[in-house]
Amino acid sequence: MKNLLEIKNLNACVGEKQILKDFSFEIEPGKVYAIMGPNGSGKSTLSNVIAGNPVYSVTSGKMLFKGKDLSKMTPDVRANEGIFLGFQYPIEIPGISYAQFLKQALTSKMKYLGQKPLDAVAYIKRLKVRAQALGVTDEMLKRPVNVGFSGGEKKRMETLQMAFLEPDFCILDEMDSGLDVDALKIVADGVNLMREENRSFLLITHYERLLDLIEPDVIYIMVDGHIVEKGDKSLARKLEENGYADYK
Ligand SMILES: Nc1ncnc2c1ncn2[C@@H]1O[C@H](COP(=O)(O)OP(=O)(O)OP(=O)(O)O)[C@@H](O)[C@H]1O
Ligand SMILES: [Mg+2]
Repeated sequence: MKNLLEIKNLNACVGEKQILKDFSFEIEPGKVYAIMGPNGSGKSTLSNVIAGNPVYSVTSGKMLFKGKDLSKMTPDVRANEGIFLGFQYPIEIPGISYAQFLKQALTSKMKYLGQKPLDAVAYIKRLKVRAQALGVTDEMLKRPVNVGFSGGEKKRMETLQMAFLEPDFCILDEMDSGLDVDALKIVADGVNLMREENRSFLLITHYERLLDLIEPDVIYIMVDGHIVEKGDKSLARKLEENGYADYK
């Protein structure tokens, strides 16, 4: 398999408004990608469309994940197939604790993959090891999902979800926003530890600082709903200096 994800000439709208315009890109296994682009260029929309958020309608184009047509899959199936989205603005879910939420998500994924669910001891161990590495306390795991969490805590919890579920394709939408410098290093270390030959990452960010901590293989620049440039890490430096003036 050459590409983990392949998107070709994708057009997507919210209501009457077209946001993704003939969007195409490729994600190879084992690589870290970054997408940078001005506010409103469609980066979060792209991640939502990949994850299957029904607010966005795909009007034409192709999305293949591990060679399978994503448009035929509901969001839960996409997640079970290995797609993970760490939200730019994580939502609060009252009534279910983080620990229960993670257990439910992992159990349904393992069931989907035909694997035996973890027993209570193995589950707790898997959760504790990952929570500790990310500085997540037992108290946070007992609280309802994201309710009352600070902005930075929510981002940390998104990363814990990713580390716990071990997806094949991890989209992190502005994971660096809201994190203090120490938390950013912890979360970046967590991502770096998860890098492996069959797993890919898509980091959406505005800042070169994140890309100093998590070295990307490829940077895509997105403007007005599609990719306008592909390059290496030097592109981030160029943007830091010149902004997006060259692309307008
Ligand atoms: N649910 C929605 N309803 C109405 N408009 C939307 C919706 N989602 C996205 N848009 C619009 O689509 C455009 C792209 O938004 P999107 O959030 O994808 O941008 P972005 O590149 O992630 O920006 P930022 O860097 O500010 O996070 C914006 O003009 C936005 O207002
Ligand atoms: Mg966004």
